[in-house]
Amino acid sequence: MTQDSDSKQAGERSVSMDKLVALCARRGFVFPSSEIYGGINGFWDYGPLGVELKNNLKALWWQRVVRERDDVVGVDSSIIAHPRTWEASGHVDHFSDPMVDCRACKKRFRADQLDDAGRCSSREGSSEHDFTEPRNFNLMLQTQIGASEDATTAAHLRPETCQSLFTDFKRVREASRQKIPFGIAQIGKAFRNEITPRNFTFRSREFEQAEMEFFCHPSEREKWFEYWRAERLQFHRDIGLRESHVRNRTHDEDELAHYARAAVDVDYRFPFDWQEIEGVHDRGDWDLSRHGEFSGKDLGVTDEVTKEHYNPVVIETSMGVDRTCLALLADAYHEESLEGGETRTVLHFHPAVAPVKAAVLPLSKKLAEGARRLEGDLRRHFNCFYDESGNIGRRYRRQDEAGTPFCLTWDFDSQEDGRVTVRERDSMEQERVPVEGIVAYLRERLEVGL
Ligand code: GAP
Repeated sequence: MTQDSDSKQAGERSVSMDKLVALCARRGFVFPSSEIYGGINGFWDYGPLGVELKNNLKALWWQRVVRERDDVVGVDSSIIAHPRTWEASGHVDHFSDPMVDCRACKKRFRADQLDDAGRCSSREGSSEHDFTEPRNFNLMLQTQIGASEDATTAAHLRPETCQSLFTDFKRVREASRQKIPFGIAQIGKAFRNEITPRNFTFRSREFEQAEMEFFCHPSEREKWFEYWRAERLQFHRDIGLRESHVRNRTHDEDELAHYARAAVDVDYRFPFDWQEIEGVHDRGDWDLSRHGEFSGKDLGVTDEVTKEHYNPVVIETSMGVDRTCLALLADAYHEESLEGGETRTVLHFHPAVAPVKAAVLPLSKKLAEGARRLEGDLRRHFNCFYDESGNIGRRYRRQDEAGTPFCLTWDFDSQEDGRVTVRERDSMEQERVPVEGIVAYLRERLEVGL
């Protein structure tokens, strides 16, 4: 049903970023952090609908990458790591963007994004910019540990979640009795002092990553790289992103990050451009070798048969949780003209990512008792919403805008025949379904295609 509905596949995108940002704030998906103080650039809060969307995405990722497999295990590590971590990883030396300052307005720009300077106030009345020479600006956010503030207490908030998957590699391998090839996965916050946060949550200073590091023998690197490239592309299609809006893009050699031997992005066609939502990288043995060197610990493995001792090669999959949520929102948004000149705004989410699975709507306030009972039963299984205010058409519209796949109307007949009217979001078709079997009915439709 829903996801592949003709209207969505055929329909041209009807969303602009302005509309999406407005809907996200109005309906409580995502809005500026510290909004009452005017916001803080690069930081965002997820509201009641947004947190459900994000949690659903993270749960689907965890299910697919960790739970359904016997060769990937999960961890949850600290955000602040030993400072040597970032020296070994190369972030202290290499994790920087070249930037220039405008001498007139004192604003800072990424040297490779000087189109941003179009917004520079010094441009008014003149097309000349007075920029400083480019300087490297490290993107790691700093903090202090403990009471004194000197170099020995300086620490960084992690700029990627994966480094602890390397520093924990030996412990996790031994504790979980995993053998090469296997992976370690984690979902968590990362922080980057981005010079120019932009495009809503797309480039934030605080964001979440869902990362998996797959450790394999060097002779199998191409095989696993290709496997994870295809698997990760498929994941984004399975959670409902339109085929025509998702693609792989291979990095040219001069674009590769300092740790990468090869990289393929999963790109999504955002309203502003095709942009990366996930990276699949061949990191070689860079990380294990460097952490081995800096810690003085042997992080290598020994092949039981050949007795070869080696550092495994790492194939990494790194999904931006916030960017993928933004892609889900942009992809789902649709404005449809209805008969009578009305327009309905619908979020055509795949039911598995939809924040609310079913809304229970009594036709009249007098029917609240039975409807509340149904809601209570359903809440044990799904995230539900109860709404008895306004006419039924208006209540449907509110749910369409939140992306709720099913509305269950409890009417005067329901008390007699034990059935409710189920109205499906995309087709707007309605059918009478026995309350007794409603959980199974919904479950079958919520997990479609997964
Ligand atoms: N461990 C590898 C790594 O961090 P990356 O390409 O720098 O690789 C991976 O980041 C993913 O994290 C990106 O594909 C993107 O989805 C997300 N990401 C990176 N920087 C981000 C930012 N400033 N705001 C939101 N998401 C970001």
